[in-house]
Amino acid sequence: MSQVNKQILLAARPDGEASAAHFKLAESPLPQNVSDGQVLVRHHYLSLDPYMRGRMSEAKSYAQPHPLGTPMIGGTAGEVVLSNHASFKPGDKVVGMGGWQQYSVVDAAQPGVLRKVDATRIPLSAYLGAVGMPGVTAWYGLVKICEPKAGQTIVVSAASGAVGSAVGQLAKARGCRAVGIAGGAEKCRYVVDELGFDACVDYKAHADPKSLYLALKEATQQGVDGHFENAGNPTVGGGVARMNAFGRVAVCGMISGYDGQPIPLAHPQLILQSRLRVEGFIVSEHMEVWPEALRELGAGVAAGTLRYRETVAQGIEAAPEAFLGLLKGKNFGKQLVKLV
Ligand SMILES: NC(=O)c1ccc[n+]([C@@H]2O[C@H](COP(=O)([O-])OP(=O)(O)OC[C@H]3O[C@@H](n4cnc5c(N)ncnc54)[C@H](OP(=O)(O)O)[C@@H]3O)[C@@H](O)[C@H]2O)c1
Repeated sequence: MSQVNKQILLAARPDGEASAAHFKLAESPLPQNVSDGQVLVRHHYLSLDPYMRGRMSEAKSYAQPHPLGTPMIGGTAGEVVLSNHASFKPGDKVVGMGGWQQYSVVDAAQPGVLRKVDATRIPLSAYLGAVGMPGVTAWYGLVKICEPKAGQTIVVSAASGAVGSAVGQLAKARGCRAVGIAGGAEKCRYVVDELGFDACVDYKAHADPKSLYLALKEATQQGVDGHFENAGNPTVGGGVARMNAFGRVAVCGMISGYDGQPIPLAHPQLILQSRLRVEGFIVSEHMEVWPEALRELGAGVAAGTLRYRETVAQGIEAAPEAFLGLLKGKNFGKQLVKLV
């Protein structure tokens, strides 16, 4: 077994755009045994997620800022290598919040901190994407807020990504018309041809709001009943403008503003005029839906009917650059770091 555990620490808080200077590579000695109730996990995959940008900052948010000088927070999927807990044995595949490091010691007696998973039916990495937090996020925002009914139209931004790709496919499975918004022709092609959405609008090809609105209008001729927002600017404005009366807007993410950029909403009066329900949510505050959501998502991935794509960076040293790329849309599908 290795003697060291490589980690990426949060070194400083960004004021504006996050950069590599806000992270620091460190090494700590790897424990060679674990105490009662503990488990040592070797991480195979680290999940990189947009919420991490919020934790780097001290700005008001739903969660505490991540402490400086400690490994960045992050979901991990890996394998038990040492165990002093009756429910886990070496070789078990597990998912937890091990952070940006190669190994973590987990107090497995705490409920919910480490979950055993079956990597024979579902690839281990999918438990960080379609069958993990992003998949449940898609499920919650779609099912509980957009409340899709067969024949209705659902629009989702960042449509090729971890959350967006699942939103459209879950909507299609409920008999809806699914329309994506994504950055670039290649992402849009994938969303329609591989994921089976009915249409996809490339917002980068429509620089002015009027042009984006007209492209969305063309793709949503019956109007929009549910809008699932992942990006913020410029997609939220066009989306709200196409809503039918009593439409539902699930505000899931606003990634275009995570470095502090403003996100203007051109016509907020439409919320009133169209009598919209606009609701933000945080998936970790709805643990009650996770089992039901994970059953549907897991069955879909195992059957090959719920598809996803991954962008995989290699090695813990690559995590900061991959994360900064995610904040600029350089990822294509779920962003992971492979650690073994
Ligand atoms: N509320 C919750 O509980 C919850 C949970 C998970 C995720 N989220 C949110 O859901 C959204 C999607 O997350 P994800 O994990 O699925 O990420 P993702 O979609 O896999 O990756 C992020 C995507 O956002 C788009 N993007 C990046 N920078 C942008 C910018 N400056 N302006 C516009 N779009 C930009 C890019 O897609 P394009 O190239 O297509 O623009 C990029 O590929 C994020 O906003 C995230 O914060 C919320």
